[in-house]
Amino acid sequence: MGSKSSCLALIAFAFVASSAAPAAAQARAPVYIVTSPATHAGIASIAHDAQYRIGPAGETRVIARVADVDAVSRHVHENEQRCGGFFAFDSLSDAESFLAREHAAQALATPPGASYTVDNAATVEPWLGQVDQANIHDTIQTLSAFRNRYYASSYGKQAAESIRDLWQALAAGRDDVDVALFTGCTSCSTQPSVIMTLHGTDRADEVVVIGGHLDSINASGGGLEQVAPGADDDASGIATITEVARIALASGWRPRRTIQFMGYAAEEIGLHGSNAIAAQYAADGVDVVGVLQLDMTNYKDGAPYDMQRISDNSNAAINAWFGALFDAYLAPNGYVLSDLACGYGCSDHASWTAQGFPAGMMFEAGKPRDPGDPWDLGDFPYIHSSGDTLANMGDSAIHSVKFAQFGLAFVGELGKTQDERIFADDFDA
Ligand code: BES
Ligand code: ZN
Repeated sequence: MGSKSSCLALIAFAFVASSAAPAAAQARAPVYIVTSPATHAGIASIAHDAQYRIGPAGETRVIARVADVDAVSRHVHENEQRCGGFFAFDSLSDAESFLAREHAAQALATPPGASYTVDNAATVEPWLGQVDQANIHDTIQTLSAFRNRYYASSYGKQAAESIRDLWQALAAGRDDVDVALFTGCTSCSTQPSVIMTLHGTDRADEVVVIGGHLDSINASGGGLEQVAPGADDDASGIATITEVARIALASGWRPRRTIQFMGYAAEEIGLHGSNAIAAQYAADGVDVVGVLQLDMTNYKDGAPYDMQRISDNSNAAINAWFGALFDAYLAPNGYVLSDLACGYGCSDHASWTAQGFPAGMMFEAGKPRDPGDPWDLGDFPYIHSSGDTLANMGDSAIHSVKFAQFGLAFVGELGKTQDERIFADDFDA
């Protein structure tokens, strides 16, 4: 997030881990961080075995071992007035392979296997008017009614399972759709990610991902019983993606490429769920041709634009194409696009980018209250608090409607549409 005061997720996690976790879990294993020489200099007393590497743009990177990753968070937050600033891994080899993949990410000027075009209006246009504010509203309501969706709580697990059930209902009657829990994240506690797969026809090996995080957090703490409705952050993203899936599936759409709808676990404690999935996909050689992240879609307060494209930790080609999609499908209704840099890997798109996949993120239209403060991104004022509720967003999901339309344009234009005549020809032959 953008403001100094709200950069508390990792610090809050440290508090929660030491106050609420069982005793056996309290001894934290050392982690390996990748950071800049400047940040390393500030934490040199707690960072061991520093090794220097050359990063993708020729800059120096430091890999070091730390016993207390939360102390590193606190240092960056207090001395550098920002969030993040380093990446943490369980092993030295994971840190090394991250650096190797960072090179790959940088080299990825154009994504593999996909050219980004806007030529499928026949599929996309009829979908746009079907986006129903009430559906998005109701999904946000349901998800924010959980006491929290904190990654380590029973509520967080139940919320993930409820998304699985909701998506399974959308997939009913389709034998080309399956819904599964992803449990391969070792640092996500009991919270699974949720993946719905709409299998493509003739280009099924090429995968299009639209996702958001399903967990929530209260930065003031409260452990497993914390009150964290997370209506905007990020029930709104999950509800938006759910509406995209509902419309695309109800239309009987058969995409040429495979579409995966993802709800990520444990984003709020360091992008853990998406990191695990992206790392698995990289290891398996999955051909991910594009990723759209939707994290916070339902707040707007006085901004002269409707949507912000996150310009950092995202792929240049996909961002240019996002602009073309916006121009084709949203601008004609008077909507305006702007750009915003988080300044750090603020959401799950960064996990895909770090693994070399082309990813981008669209974010809601906050208006900075103090334009002179570079840390004021105009965040939803109730982020990471018990006030992140639909009531504090006017009890409406009207702003998420635009994001559902953008999501439909994204999946329709990247997934493309099976030409029914090809099936007819195959049948004849
Ligand atoms: N939804 C936020 C990210 C965000 C907030 C983006 C405001 C742009 C403006 C996300 O859930 C979050 O809180 N991310 C963490 C970072 C993560 C690595 C723990 C954050 O920003 O502190
Ligand atoms: Zn979020």
